Amino acid sequence: MKIFIDSANVEEIRKAADIGILDGVTTNPSLIMREGRDYKKTLKEICGITKGPVSAETISLDAKGMIKEGKEFVKIAKNIVIKVPMTQEGMKACSIFTKSGIKVNTTLVFSANQALLAAKAGSYLVSPFLGRLDDMGQTGMELIEEMRQIYDNYGFKAQILAASIRSPQHVKESALSGADVATIPFKVYEQMFKHALTDKGIKAFLDDWDKLQKELKKK
Ligand code: E4P
Repeated sequence: MKIFIDSANVEEIRKAADIGILDGVTTNPSLIMREGRDYKKTLKEICGITKGPVSAETISLDAKGMIKEGKEFVKIAKNIVIKVPMTQEGMKACSIFTKSGIKVNTTLVFSANQALLAAKAGSYLVSPFLGRLDDMGQTGMELIEEMRQIYDNYGFKAQILAASIRSPQHVKESALSGADVATIPFKVYEQMFKHALTDKGIKAFLDDWDKLQKELKKK
Protein backbone atom coordinates (compact mmCIF):
# COMPACT_ATOMS: atom_id res chain seq x y z
CA MET A 1 0.00 0.00 0.00
CA LYS A 2 1.24 3.48 -0.86
CA ILE A 3 1.46 6.07 1.88
CA PHE A 4 0.55 9.68 1.11
CA ILE A 5 0.66 12.56 3.58
CA ASP A 6 -2.65 14.42 3.89
CA SER A 7 -1.27 17.90 4.49
CA ALA A 8 -0.42 21.27 2.98
CA ASN A 9 2.33 21.80 5.55
CA VAL A 10 5.65 21.79 3.73
CA GLU A 11 7.69 21.00 6.86
CA GLU A 12 5.62 17.90 7.64
CA ILE A 13 5.91 16.69 4.07
CA ARG A 14 9.66 17.29 4.10
CA LYS A 15 10.03 15.28 7.33
CA ALA A 16 8.20 12.31 5.77
CA ALA A 17 10.33 12.59 2.62
CA ASP A 18 13.52 12.64 4.75
CA ILE A 19 12.42 9.43 6.48
CA GLY A 20 11.98 7.97 2.98
CA ILE A 21 8.40 6.77 3.42
CA LEU A 22 6.35 9.11 1.24
CA ASP A 23 4.61 8.07 -1.98
CA GLY A 24 2.57 11.24 -2.56
CA VAL A 25 0.55 14.06 -1.02
CA THR A 26 -3.09 15.13 -0.86
CA THR A 27 -4.20 18.69 -0.15
CA ASN A 28 -7.61 20.32 0.07
CA PRO A 29 -8.95 23.86 0.66
CA SER A 30 -9.30 23.28 4.42
CA LEU A 31 -5.69 22.09 4.73
CA ILE A 32 -4.31 25.08 2.79
CA MET A 33 -6.55 27.42 4.82
CA ARG A 34 -4.82 26.12 7.98
CA GLU A 35 -1.44 27.10 6.50
CA GLY A 36 -2.67 30.55 5.39
CA ARG A 37 -0.41 30.47 2.33
CA ASP A 38 -0.84 30.87 -1.44
CA TYR A 39 -2.12 27.54 -2.80
CA LYS A 40 -0.16 27.40 -6.06
CA LYS A 41 3.14 28.44 -4.44
CA THR A 42 2.63 25.79 -1.75
CA LEU A 43 1.83 23.11 -4.34
CA LYS A 44 5.02 24.02 -6.24
CA GLU A 45 7.07 23.58 -3.07
CA ILE A 46 5.41 20.24 -2.32
CA CYS A 47 6.06 19.02 -5.86
CA GLY A 48 9.73 19.89 -5.31
CA ILE A 49 9.81 17.52 -2.32
CA THR A 50 8.09 14.45 -3.81
CA LYS A 51 7.90 13.01 -7.30
CA GLY A 52 4.75 11.11 -6.27
CA PRO A 53 1.23 12.33 -7.12
CA VAL A 54 0.26 15.63 -5.45
CA SER A 55 -3.50 16.27 -5.42
CA ALA A 56 -4.69 19.85 -5.99
CA GLU A 57 -8.38 20.45 -5.33
CA THR A 58 -10.65 22.54 -7.55
CA ILE A 59 -13.32 24.73 -5.95
CA SER A 60 -15.66 25.37 -8.92
CA LEU A 61 -19.01 23.62 -8.93
CA ASP A 62 -19.31 23.37 -12.74
CA ALA A 63 -17.17 21.25 -15.08
CA LYS A 64 -16.07 24.29 -17.10
CA GLY A 65 -14.70 25.99 -14.00
CA MET A 66 -13.02 22.80 -12.76
CA ILE A 67 -11.31 22.35 -16.12
CA LYS A 68 -10.09 25.97 -16.09
CA GLU A 69 -8.68 25.55 -12.58
CA GLY A 70 -7.21 22.13 -13.34
CA LYS A 71 -5.40 23.40 -16.44
CA GLU A 72 -3.71 26.06 -14.28
CA PHE A 73 -2.76 23.50 -11.61
CA VAL A 74 -1.14 21.10 -14.09
CA LYS A 75 1.21 23.89 -15.22
CA ILE A 76 2.78 23.77 -11.72
CA ALA A 77 4.44 20.35 -12.08
CA LYS A 78 4.20 17.02 -13.89
CA ASN A 79 3.03 15.15 -10.77
CA ILE A 80 -0.06 17.27 -10.08
CA VAL A 81 -3.33 15.29 -9.93
CA ILE A 82 -6.59 17.24 -10.14
CA LYS A 83 -9.10 16.68 -7.38
CA VAL A 84 -12.75 17.02 -8.36
CA PRO A 85 -15.84 16.33 -6.23
CA MET A 86 -18.11 13.32 -6.80
CA THR A 87 -20.91 15.20 -8.58
CA GLN A 88 -22.29 15.02 -12.12
CA GLU A 89 -20.24 18.11 -13.04
CA GLY A 90 -17.20 16.64 -11.32
CA MET A 91 -17.49 13.43 -13.32
CA LYS A 92 -17.98 15.42 -16.53
CA ALA A 93 -14.71 17.22 -15.77
CA CYS A 94 -13.08 13.90 -14.81
CA SER A 95 -13.95 12.32 -18.18
CA ILE A 96 -12.58 15.33 -20.06
CA PHE A 97 -9.38 15.52 -17.98
CA THR A 98 -8.80 11.77 -18.33
CA LYS A 99 -9.25 11.85 -22.13
CA SER A 100 -6.66 14.62 -22.35
CA GLY A 101 -4.16 12.65 -20.22
CA ILE A 102 -4.63 14.60 -16.97
CA LYS A 103 -4.92 12.43 -13.86
CA VAL A 104 -7.92 12.89 -11.56
CA ASN A 105 -8.55 12.18 -7.88
CA THR A 106 -12.31 11.96 -7.31
CA THR A 107 -12.94 13.17 -3.80
CA LEU A 108 -15.82 13.16 -1.29
CA VAL A 109 -16.83 9.57 -2.08
CA PHE A 110 -19.23 8.08 0.48
CA SER A 111 -20.94 5.16 -1.32
CA ALA A 112 -20.08 2.17 -3.51
CA ASN A 113 -22.21 3.52 -6.35
CA GLN A 114 -20.33 6.83 -6.30
CA ALA A 115 -17.08 4.83 -6.38
CA LEU A 116 -18.35 2.80 -9.37
CA LEU A 117 -19.21 5.98 -11.28
CA ALA A 118 -15.86 7.58 -10.42
CA ALA A 119 -14.01 4.55 -11.80
CA LYS A 120 -16.13 4.55 -14.97
CA ALA A 121 -15.37 8.26 -15.51
CA GLY A 122 -11.67 7.30 -15.62
CA SER A 123 -10.47 8.51 -12.21
CA TYR A 124 -6.84 7.71 -11.43
CA LEU A 125 -7.54 7.88 -7.68
CA VAL A 126 -10.89 7.55 -5.89
CA SER A 127 -11.11 8.85 -2.31
CA PRO A 128 -13.57 7.25 0.12
CA PHE A 129 -13.77 9.35 3.32
CA LEU A 130 -13.53 6.89 6.21
CA GLY A 131 -13.52 9.22 9.20
CA ARG A 132 -16.48 11.27 8.05
CA LEU A 133 -18.55 8.08 7.56
CA ASP A 134 -17.53 6.84 11.02
CA ASP A 135 -18.54 10.24 12.44
CA MET A 136 -22.08 9.59 11.14
CA GLY A 137 -22.24 6.21 12.87
CA GLN A 138 -21.51 4.26 9.66
CA THR A 139 -18.50 1.97 9.11
CA GLY A 140 -16.17 3.66 6.64
CA MET A 141 -14.08 0.52 6.23
CA GLU A 142 -17.02 -1.37 4.71
CA LEU A 143 -16.92 1.07 1.80
CA ILE A 144 -13.28 0.20 1.09
CA GLU A 145 -14.15 -3.52 1.11
CA GLU A 146 -17.06 -2.95 -1.31
CA MET A 147 -14.91 -0.80 -3.60
CA ARG A 148 -12.15 -3.42 -3.66
CA GLN A 149 -14.66 -6.08 -4.69
CA ILE A 150 -16.28 -3.94 -7.39
CA TYR A 151 -12.99 -2.74 -8.88
CA ASP A 152 -11.60 -6.30 -8.89
CA ASN A 153 -14.81 -7.76 -10.38
CA TYR A 154 -14.51 -5.52 -13.43
CA GLY A 155 -10.79 -4.81 -13.59
CA PHE A 156 -11.13 -1.08 -12.99
CA LYS A 157 -7.69 0.55 -12.89
CA ALA A 158 -8.75 3.32 -10.47
CA GLN A 159 -6.74 3.23 -7.24
CA ILE A 160 -8.60 3.26 -3.93
CA LEU A 161 -7.21 6.10 -1.83
CA ALA A 162 -8.38 5.74 1.78
CA ALA A 163 -8.97 9.33 2.97
CA SER A 164 -10.28 11.11 6.06
CA ILE A 165 -8.04 8.87 8.16
CA ARG A 166 -8.09 9.62 11.88
CA SER A 167 -5.98 6.89 13.52
CA PRO A 168 -3.30 4.21 12.98
CA GLN A 169 -6.17 1.69 13.27
CA HIS A 170 -7.72 3.24 10.14
CA VAL A 171 -4.41 2.78 8.31
CA LYS A 172 -4.10 -0.86 9.35
CA GLU A 173 -7.68 -1.68 8.38
CA SER A 174 -7.28 0.12 5.04
CA ALA A 175 -4.25 -2.05 4.29
CA LEU A 176 -6.12 -5.21 5.33
CA SER A 177 -9.13 -4.21 3.20
CA GLY A 178 -7.01 -3.79 0.06
CA ALA A 179 -6.83 0.00 -0.31
CA ASP A 180 -4.13 0.93 -2.83
CA VAL A 181 -3.19 4.10 -0.98
CA ALA A 182 -3.83 5.66 2.42
CA THR A 183 -3.49 9.41 2.80
CA ILE A 184 -2.49 10.08 6.38
CA PRO A 185 -2.38 13.21 8.56
CA PHE A 186 1.22 13.73 9.76
CA LYS A 187 0.20 13.21 13.41
CA VAL A 188 -1.13 9.72 12.56
CA TYR A 189 1.97 9.02 10.42
CA GLU A 190 4.15 9.73 13.48
CA GLN A 191 1.94 7.58 15.73
CA MET A 192 2.41 4.63 13.37
CA PHE A 193 6.12 4.43 14.22
CA LYS A 194 5.52 4.16 17.94
CA HIS A 195 5.11 1.21 20.27
CA ALA A 196 5.72 1.23 24.04
CA LEU A 197 7.65 -2.07 23.79
CA THR A 198 9.99 -0.59 21.16
CA ASP A 199 10.89 2.26 23.54
CA LYS A 200 11.20 -0.15 26.46
CA GLY A 201 13.37 -2.49 24.38
CA ILE A 202 15.73 0.30 23.28
CA LYS A 203 16.11 1.45 26.90
CA ALA A 204 16.88 -2.10 28.12
CA PHE A 205 19.51 -2.64 25.39
CA LEU A 206 21.18 0.71 26.14
CA ASP A 207 21.18 0.04 29.91
CA ASP A 208 22.85 -3.35 29.35
CA TRP A 209 25.37 -1.77 26.97
CA ASP A 210 26.30 0.84 29.62
CA LYS A 211 26.62 -1.89 32.27
CA LEU A 212 29.00 -3.83 30.03
CA GLN A 213 31.17 -0.74 29.35
CA LYS A 214 31.47 -0.10 33.12
CA GLU A 215 32.44 -3.74 33.79
CA LEU A 216 35.03 -3.72 31.00
CA LYS A 217 36.62 -0.55 32.42
CA LYS A 218 37.06 -2.30 35.79
CA LYS A 219 39.07 -5.13 34.19
C1 E4P B 1 -7.91 13.95 1.36
O1 E4P B 1 -7.79 13.91 0.17
C2 E4P B 1 -9.14 14.44 2.03
O2 E4P B 1 -9.45 15.72 1.60
C3 E4P B 1 -8.94 14.39 3.53
O3 E4P B 1 -8.43 13.13 3.89
C4 E4P B 1 -10.20 14.70 4.30
O4 E4P B 1 -9.98 14.48 5.67
P1 E4P B 1 -10.95 15.03 6.83
O5 E4P B 1 -12.25 14.31 6.74
O6 E4P B 1 -10.22 14.75 8.10
O7 E4P B 1 -11.12 16.51 6.57
